Amino acid sequence: MGVPTATYFRTAQLVPLFQRMLERCKLTEDETILVVSDPDSNQEYVAAMFAAARSFGADAMSLMLPPPPPEQAVFIRTGNISSTIVASSKKALEFLKMADFVIDMTSVGLLHTKEQVAVLEAGTRMLMVHDPVEALERMFPTDEDKERIQRHGRRLREAKRVRVQSDNGTEVWFDKADRPVIEQWGWTDEPGRWDHWPGAFAYTAPTEGVGEGLIVLDPGDVWYPPKRYIATPVTMTFENGAAVKIEGGWDARMIREYIEGWQEPEGYMISHIGFGGHRRGLWNAVLFQDPLDIIGQDGRTAWGTTLFALGSNVTFGGTHATGCHQDFALKQQRFYLDDELVADSGRVIPDYLH
Ligand SMILES: [Fe+2]
Repeated sequence: MGVPTATYFRTAQLVPLFQRMLERCKLTEDETILVVSDPDSNQEYVAAMFAAARSFGADAMSLMLPPPPPEQAVFIRTGNISSTIVASSKKALEFLKMADFVIDMTSVGLLHTKEQVAVLEAGTRMLMVHDPVEALERMFPTDEDKERIQRHGRRLREAKRVRVQSDNGTEVWFDKADRPVIEQWGWTDEPGRWDHWPGAFAYTAPTEGVGEGLIVLDPGDVWYPPKRYIATPVTMTFENGAAVKIEGGWDARMIREYIEGWQEPEGYMISHIGFGGHRRGLWNAVLFQDPLDIIGQDGRTAWGTTLFALGSNVTFGGTHATGCHQDFALKQQRFYLDDELVADSGRVIPDYLH
């Protein structure tokens, strides 16, 4: 957590910002909204969201859950988005399913959990909020963001294959045919729909067990959940949709050891892949943000970049259930849908996707 300087002033500024978001999410006075957090959450955000929700006349509640077990904390507290705190509670899942709207302000996020799938299936809509105020403001979602991401999603749905190349040795493909496409534009106003503020991009969870080639991470690419820039090249060799070799210097070793720490083979498997669709996401913002304060949507959704992940894909229609989930945001790569180059090193190429 950052230094709590002038907290009361910041909280007061957050309330109208969160009111704008709840307006986008069409919160009504006859709905129940539940703000979920844990002791490591930013309670300033929780208080401001609670106040914003009350101003709509909604039935507003705050649910504070115990933290995850200490043996997991070191791996999951920095935002791999697979918090076990709902699973560890006897009743929390029921409370979440009963609400019309859940604001996920848990310190890690519930995204990659079976519990989130159950909550959405119950018809509850969910919005995750975690990033710094300046990112929430700068990337506040617009109708234009939504329309653009829906165009990206339509194009992704047509594709049969995703391919990534780079001058530094990346040459990899994954199968996309008949797989789900996920669109995020930063708010949710429909029952059972999840989104994450901020963020705007579309991606797919490729066919499990399929996909071959090499992905080379360049120095300056971002590794999540640690939210650190890679310092030495990392070469990942993919066979049958899984990273069978992760080679390079100390970055490669840290990535390998992170996966080994979970002791689950799903940690090596491709989870999701797509290209950044946010025009106001800043690639270099992560460099100036506190890793424990952020999810780091700036780097994950920056315009024309490539994002792929290893590990859990249960929330994207897959079967890989593991707490292990890592995103890799790549800057200097060419992203193809079938034979069409759609993104190249921070640019989206076709005009119809702008
Ligand atoms: Fe991810």
